[in-house]
Amino acid sequence: MPSERLADFFLPYHYQIKLDINLKTLDVTGQTNITGNLQKPAKSVRLHARGLMVKQIDLIYGASHHHELKWKTNSEASELIIDLPEKFPQNASMEIAVTYSLKVTETMEGIYPSYYKIGSKKKLLLSTQLESHHAREAFPCIDEPAAKATFDLSITTSKGQTVLSNTLVKGEQSEGTKKTTLFETTPKMSTYLLAFVIGELGYKEKTTKNGVKFRVYATTNNINRVDFALETGGKVLDFYNKYFGIPYPLKKCDMVAIPEFASGAMENWGLITYRESALLLDSKNSSLFTKQWVALVIAHELAHQWFGNLVTMAWWDDLWLNEGFASWVEFFAVAELFPNWNMWAQFVSEDYHSAITDDALANTHPILQPVNDPREINEIFDNITYRKGSSIIRMLHAYMGKKAFRKGLQNYLKKYQYNNATTNDLWQSLEESSDLPITKFMKAWTKQKGFPLIKWSQKKASILLTQERFILSPHERALSKDKTVWPVPLNLIGTKNHFTLTKRSESWKIKPKKQIKFNIDQTGFYRVHYEASKLKNLNLLLREKALSVPDRAGLVNDVTEMARAGYSKTHEILDFLLVFQDETAPPVWDMISAFTANTWLSLGDEKFYVHFKPYGRELITLQYNRLGWKKKTNESHFDTLLRPTILAMAVKFEDDKAINKAKDLFIKWSNGKSLDPDIRRIVYAASMRHGGISEFNLLHSAHKNEELAEEKRRIAAGITNAIQPEIINKTLNLLNSSEIRQQDLVSWVFGLYANRFSREKVWQWQQNNWEWIEKTYGGGHLISYFIQSLAVFSSEQKTREIKNFYKNKDLTGIKRTLDQTLETIELQAAWRKQDYRSTLSWLQQYK
Ligand code: BES
Ligand code: ZN
Repeated sequence: MPSERLADFFLPYHYQIKLDINLKTLDVTGQTNITGNLQKPAKSVRLHARGLMVKQIDLIYGASHHHELKWKTNSEASELIIDLPEKFPQNASMEIAVTYSLKVTETMEGIYPSYYKIGSKKKLLLSTQLESHHAREAFPCIDEPAAKATFDLSITTSKGQTVLSNTLVKGEQSEGTKKTTLFETTPKMSTYLLAFVIGELGYKEKTTKNGVKFRVYATTNNINRVDFALETGGKVLDFYNKYFGIPYPLKKCDMVAIPEFASGAMENWGLITYRESALLLDSKNSSLFTKQWVALVIAHELAHQWFGNLVTMAWWDDLWLNEGFASWVEFFAVAELFPNWNMWAQFVSEDYHSAITDDALANTHPILQPVNDPREINEIFDNITYRKGSSIIRMLHAYMGKKAFRKGLQNYLKKYQYNNATTNDLWQSLEESSDLPITKFMKAWTKQKGFPLIKWSQKKASILLTQERFILSPHERALSKDKTVWPVPLNLIGTKNHFTLTKRSESWKIKPKKQIKFNIDQTGFYRVHYEASKLKNLNLLLREKALSVPDRAGLVNDVTEMARAGYSKTHEILDFLLVFQDETAPPVWDMISAFTANTWLSLGDEKFYVHFKPYGRELITLQYNRLGWKKKTNESHFDTLLRPTILAMAVKFEDDKAINKAKDLFIKWSNGKSLDPDIRRIVYAASMRHGGISEFNLLHSAHKNEELAEEKRRIAAGITNAIQPEIINKTLNLLNSSEIRQQDLVSWVFGLYANRFSREKVWQWQQNNWEWIEKTYGGGHLISYFIQSLAVFSSEQKTREIKNFYKNKDLTGIKRTLDQTLETIELQAAWRKQDYRSTLSWLQQYK
């Protein structure tokens, strides 16, 4: 049963919020007046409020003014229950005025501080993160996405600060050392989209084609790093104006880089906040990968200004609608604006690959998942919501065609603007624009967990097809009784025919060719099984260069996953991969690299590595020699992206030349010579791995002095690659020190787990520090990464140990992640048992 919604009793339509914020003590006093209507006759009103110290509540009803109403708090439910002076009728309109105070918290939610340094000067920035249910920590409200209202905000704080909110500044008043900033009334919107930022900020601006005042803000030391965001953001905004067919609804749009940020970015209407590494680009120190990432994140958040902010999900169980759509359209926009980046091929090795990998676990979940309490949202902030979401929208887009899709989308936005909608409402609009049974088609993909594996055989004039749910773990597969059937849109490279498989087994009347690759451009969310004999035929297609990049990436993904699942032998797959030596596309190599890394992790031990390394070196030699370490003038986008992937493999497979080259570049870098940002991570990591305390000291002091978040992260990836116990201990001691920003710790921990020499030690550290981790990250998005990072183990002994440790812990928000992680470790252990010997024996030929 869905839990009660407060908006069913009292529905606000306007908020007037005044906050007085002391930046020294971080005390806030607030006055919030909420005007709304009773939805039912009532003697009391319930509002959301959390951590607010209420001083007084008054009521204005018609001409009468009631002072000092009584109230109770229900802290378990984060509710404020206000007694009305009498029973009021349905539709009674009233204004409730609440006076309160609050203390800023350090949790990267609600109103929270970022501490940062410019040179040796300590600085403070204050900002908000109210999605999903933290508006109630800043002001009393009906904190539900369907309770849309308008907002008038005013903020009083010390002079000399830039104060930003969703809308333009309407007026400023100054009084002594204080300044009050008043903002224009917002459009009708959900509480989670309100935002403000207070800090010493600089900005650059431009006006978009439609006359929107567009600015990018950052702390003053970063102001020369906002140009790419300004330029790209402006183009994306213009693009969406056209694509969505509705002009951007506000007069201004600000994007701000925030020093401490729990997720990647947040789409607050008109005031989008970002983690620094997702917005800033440094002309000398940013990698091409970061550039793409910044463009994607911007395109994602700007899409929400329409899809999410203008039309909002009715409740959190449709979060996927917001996030899955934005995750699809971010690629769509960037692909349009940067056609030579080949974004759709990269989609396959990014979103599609992560989604279809996670969705193959027995412990996955349907995209549509009931969420009774917004606290459960952190659990669905995952690859299924985002990336399976974006993948099935891509499949739908291919199924409908782009014209009908866009038309339906525009109708949907128009129909529900300034209002709320559900998944079904979107399907309805798309159905009307296409005359296709969209609701029926999408049902299985959103309501059922998992996806199908297609097995097939060629007959004389047909292909016999079967589908079954693909579960990676042979153990879980044997236990599963899942009989789900999906409508699977099938097609074949080289033909225009298509076929929707709707039964468990069906015959497709088509004259099959010898060489078959299903799923053109890998737009369908399913896997196809190619047994050894079929792989041979595929070799031909590959040699004839008949496959697109997404097809090749998708094929490698399908084929390699069959080894992990026990459908194919690992050595057959390793052998097959050798056909890709002259492959030049990064998405394909990302898939190859993911598989060799998995093999390394799950099957590897020192004896295994002796033979696996020369195999790996043979696999990459051609590309290694082609690309080298130095960027060529005018080289292709893909070559620049591919270089770090290949070099990282060369270092992993211990190519002596590569290691020496990295060390050489490291020495030059430490002497002040510039180093190509695209290969820095590899240079740091290789030098640390094959170096010692002097490399550690160099990297450590570089980290301390570095201001660019992106570079800090690369250095962290370098440091966590050390093998000496003393250095690992030193690194562990850094973890809960002020040297590492709260937002960045997970990437250090992740690095230490990925390194087999520090894995055990960081696991000990995590157990010893769990209480602190819980206190610092509990309730937020980041805590689940501490659990996910454990998926690098591959023994049953470890699953027992982990289970045992978490047995008595509070698992709110991490339960599913823990189950998925344990399942992953178990299946890696099973793979090892199954294929270790045969793979090692095949590998003996490599010396
Ligand atoms: N709205 C989300 C962030 C969010 C979701 C905050 C749920 C709180 C609860 C934002 O639009 C988002 O999706 N950010 C992504 C980046 C994006 C490019 C995938 C993130 O933070 O990872
Ligand atoms: Zn989003």
